[in-house]
Amino acid sequence: MSSIQLRNVTKRYGQTEVVHGIDLEIAEREFVVLLGPSGCGKTTTLRMVAGLEDVSDGELSIGGRIVNDVAPKDRGVAMVFQNYALYPHMSVRQNMEFALRPQKLDRSEVKQRIARIAEILGLGELLDRKPSQLSGGQRQRVAMGRAMVRTPDVFLFDEPLSNLDAKLRTQVRWEIGKLHKRLETTILYVTHDQVEAMTLADRIVIMRDGHIEQTGTPEDVFGKPRNIFVATFIGSPAMNLVPAAVRGSQLVGEFLEMALPARFSGKVTEGQEVTIGIRPPDILPAEEGADGAVSALVEVVEYLGNEALLDIRIGSQELIAEVPSSRRPVEDETIDVRLDPEALHISDRETGLSVLA
Ligand SMILES: Nc1ncnc2c1ncn2[C@@H]1O[C@H](COP(=O)(O)OP(=O)(O)O)[C@@H](O)[C@H]1O
Ligand SMILES: [Mg+2]
Repeated sequence: MSSIQLRNVTKRYGQTEVVHGIDLEIAEREFVVLLGPSGCGKTTTLRMVAGLEDVSDGELSIGGRIVNDVAPKDRGVAMVFQNYALYPHMSVRQNMEFALRPQKLDRSEVKQRIARIAEILGLGELLDRKPSQLSGGQRQRVAMGRAMVRTPDVFLFDEPLSNLDAKLRTQVRWEIGKLHKRLETTILYVTHDQVEAMTLADRIVIMRDGHIEQTGTPEDVFGKPRNIFVATFIGSPAMNLVPAAVRGSQLVGEFLEMALPARFSGKVTEGQEVTIGIRPPDILPAEEGADGAVSALVEVVEYLGNEALLDIRIGSQELIAEVPSSRRPVEDETIDVRLDPEALHISDRETGLSVLA
C-alpha cells in the first residue's frame, strides 16, 4: 500500500502538451478513478505513474518517494491493460510464474503466492489451461492475477473491462470492487465509463483536455458538479440545460419563471445570465398554475421498464424527462411540468462555473 502524489505533473510530446500540470493526492488504500472522454490524457497520466512515460515537468511520488527517475520495475506498481496480453503458449500458472521471474523467489514462495491469488480470483481450476481455453472474463482475471502475484503496493488499471461484453463487464467490475476491499491496495483506475467510475471509486477525478475538472466522491461529482462540463458528463441521460436570467427573486427564461431557491440567494447577481441544469428525473408533473409550472408537448415516449424517458418540448426548448413508467403520458399529449427547486443546478452562462463552486 502506497500513497501517490502528483505535483504539477506535465506531459509533452515534442511541442505538444497533453497533460497540463495536474495535482492529485491519492491516499494509501484509496480507489481513485480517472474519468473523462477519449483523448483527455487518462492513459498518459497512468503511464507516467507506471514509469512507462517520462514526466516532462513536475513531481511524481509513490509512497512518499519521488520516482520521476525510478525505473518502472522499482516503483512497486503493477499495471493491468485494456488488452490483457497473456502468453498464448503458456498455461495460466506459467503466465503467473513468468510475472514473478524478476523477483527471483524460491519455488515454494512462488507456489504459495499463485495458490493464494488463484483462490481469491477463482482461478484454481484453470491453472493448467492455456489462454485459448478460457472465456474473455477468465482471461481478464488471469491478467489481474498476473499483476497481483507480484504483490504490488499500487495497482494501475487502464480500461480493463472495455473488451468484455456487457454482462461480463458487470461481473468483473464487481470482482474488482471485492478485490479492492480484500487486498486493501491503492488503486488508480482509468475509464471513460461513468458507471464503472461511480460504482468502484472512493474518489473520481474528472479530466478534460489534459486538465482536472473536478475531484470528489461519486456523490460530490453527481450532486455538486463544479461546472457544466462535469454536470453534463456525469449522469445518464445527461442533465438538461435551460438558459435563464436572474430577475429579483425570480429565475426567468424564455418559457419559464420560477422562484430562485433560497440556497442560491447571495450567490447570484441581479440580471446575471445563467444556465439552469436539471436532471431528467427532476422534471416533475405539476398542477396547472403552480409556481413555475409550464406546459410541455410530449414528442417521444421511450419505455424502459420501470421508467420511461420523455422527449418534451417547451416552446423551442427540448428537454428529456424521466418518469415512472406507470405514470407515463402518451405521445403528442400536452402535460404540465415544473423543475424541482431542490434539484436545480445553476451556473454562470459565460464561465460555465456553478454559482455554488
Ligand atoms: N506517443 C504519443 N505521441 C503524441 N501524442 C500522443 C502520444 N500518446 C498520446 N498522445 C496524445 O495525448 C492525448 C491524450 O492521450 P491519452 O492519454 O491516450 O488519452 P485517453 O487515455 O484519455 O483517451 C491525445 O491527444 C493523444 O493523441
Ligand atoms: Mg486511454
